[in-house]
Amino acid sequence: TDPALIRNFCIIAHIDHGKSTLADRMLQLTGVVEGRQMRAQYLDRMDIERERGITIKSQAVRLPWDGHVLNMIDTPGHVDFTYEVSRSLEACEGAVLLVDAAQGIEAQTLANLYLAMSADLHIIPVLNKIDLPAAQPDKYAEEIAGLIGCAPSDVLRVSGKTGVGVKELLDHVVQNVPAPVGDADAPARALIFDSVYDTYRGVVTYVRVVDGHLSKRERTIMMSTGATHETLEIGVISPDPVPSVSLGVGEVGYLITGVKDVRQARVGDTVTSVVKPALTALGGYDHPRPMVYSGLYPIDGDDYPELREALDKLRLNDAALAYEPETSAALGFGFRCGFLGLLHMEIVRERLEREFNLSLISTAPNVIYRVVMEDGKEIVVTNPSEFPSGKIAEIHEPMVKATLLSPSDHIGAIMELCQGRRGALLGMDYLSEDRVEIRYTLPLGEIIFDFFDQLKSRTRGYASLDYDPSGEQDADLVKVDILLQGEAVDAFSAIVHREKAYAYGVEMAKKLKELIPRQQFEVPIQAAIGARVIARENIRAIRKDVLAKCYGGDISRKRKLLEKQKEGKKRMKMVGRVEVPQEAFVAALSTE
Ligand code: GTP
Repeated sequence: TDPALIRNFCIIAHIDHGKSTLADRMLQLTGVVEGRQMRAQYLDRMDIERERGITIKSQAVRLPWDGHVLNMIDTPGHVDFTYEVSRSLEACEGAVLLVDAAQGIEAQTLANLYLAMSADLHIIPVLNKIDLPAAQPDKYAEEIAGLIGCAPSDVLRVSGKTGVGVKELLDHVVQNVPAPVGDADAPARALIFDSVYDTYRGVVTYVRVVDGHLSKRERTIMMSTGATHETLEIGVISPDPVPSVSLGVGEVGYLITGVKDVRQARVGDTVTSVVKPALTALGGYDHPRPMVYSGLYPIDGDDYPELREALDKLRLNDAALAYEPETSAALGFGFRCGFLGLLHMEIVRERLEREFNLSLISTAPNVIYRVVMEDGKEIVVTNPSEFPSGKIAEIHEPMVKATLLSPSDHIGAIMELCQGRRGALLGMDYLSEDRVEIRYTLPLGEIIFDFFDQLKSRTRGYASLDYDPSGEQDADLVKVDILLQGEAVDAFSAIVHREKAYAYGVEMAKKLKELIPRQQFEVPIQAAIGARVIARENIRAIRKDVLAKCYGGDISRKRKLLEKQKEGKKRMKMVGRVEVPQEAFVAALSTE
């Protein structure tokens, strides 16, 4: 295709502002998907995406429109997947900035807008859901105009649901988004903006060709690793894969090279040809780095090999997932896993349970701490068990810069929450009369617990949050251990701020007292920092054995009781002499 006729654009928006629905209408309107085959959120292919109604992986699709070729890239909206968004943006010249006409600008609207602006994209501001009775398009057009510096009348108005305005939007894209420019005679350079593992075809790599062209049967090199592969198939997505012979300047499509693992075709890498290789790769290329760690253990220890296999398989499709084996005295064999954020963590766990039929316990999430000892040694802690007991000089914890958007009547509640989480106010701006943007620096470790839930409940769902990593700070942190009958249970240890250690200890001891059944002997539950006990509860002993109440009863009832006890035993874990039911671990470690 002549690059002059190509328009590459993406849709960026806050979660739920309607990207996928708008994409559906575009698929229909351009005739790529026929009415009969249409289903909601056509491009969200994973079950979990459809059920949760969220986009996890970016999707690219080629749409014919008015003699032009539009390549639309649907991007994920959530903060954990910012990396994917930023790579998708690099593959485009324009961005449709979609804003819900009943909600206005939200935290991820801003975050994504800034990403699009730093990628130098032409921005098309669009209000969506104008069919809603609660829509206030005039008000929010003003808000958007104020943000991006255009006239309110420049803000387009559409409804992804009814299709109103979508045709005009497509025309607008053709007229206003710049055509791609590249050197057709230069060595090939194509940016990988997504890479997906397919059971039947191996890794399918999605690329945007910047210079030169890539052809079928050609040998290619991944520039960051130097790995070479033969291109077995090349083509475009419309909306199913359509093989072709080559992809030229400005085109968006896919490659299949027989690569078996997405880590060999990483998002952000540049593909070039072996015969005529490019000298410099495109743009910067960084690995997404895990921010949050948690232990994952099979509830049934026998499932450990299955868990390993499942993680290996999942990683074929998720380059950001990190894991290594670990053992816990309380939970047995498992893995310490690294995630991009909390949602990423939840999704991985859910996919493991669902797609691989596993039951898992996850330990409380924690961030990465850097501990410097008095002798100058530095220890990187991704697990409370690695927290050193010697003389500590400094502890560094990761920080984030958080942006919160909210109606102004919730300012007080938001500030109280952030202050309670050791936040430092950076600034505050009014986006309009009644909506405000509040900026804080906060320790990441304070956000990963239940910050988001708290924020939503304190603002009745109205506030939105976005954050970016922002260095480290010194922090006064301690490890709190939980002991049963004097023995520490590693799964319950946590690294917390000194001022919150007491509250954590008391709460955990109380919870466990409720969850652990009485034993033949008294069981003290203690919370301790080092050797110093900070909280204590007691589980009183039971005297009578279970059969006592069956005296005189019939034998079958007695046997039933014994059987039942044996069943229960299987699901017990021994901590020293104390029997702890599996459910107690699950319940104590759940965040609710
Ligand atoms: P993520 O993929 O999670 O980022 O969400 P999204 O932005 O793709 O939003 P999605 O298209 O899934 O829409 C979110 C919700 O808004 C769904 O319940 C849609 O049915 C609804 N919705 C989307 N567009 C419109 C619209 O134009 N009008 C109305 N009334 N509802 C809409």
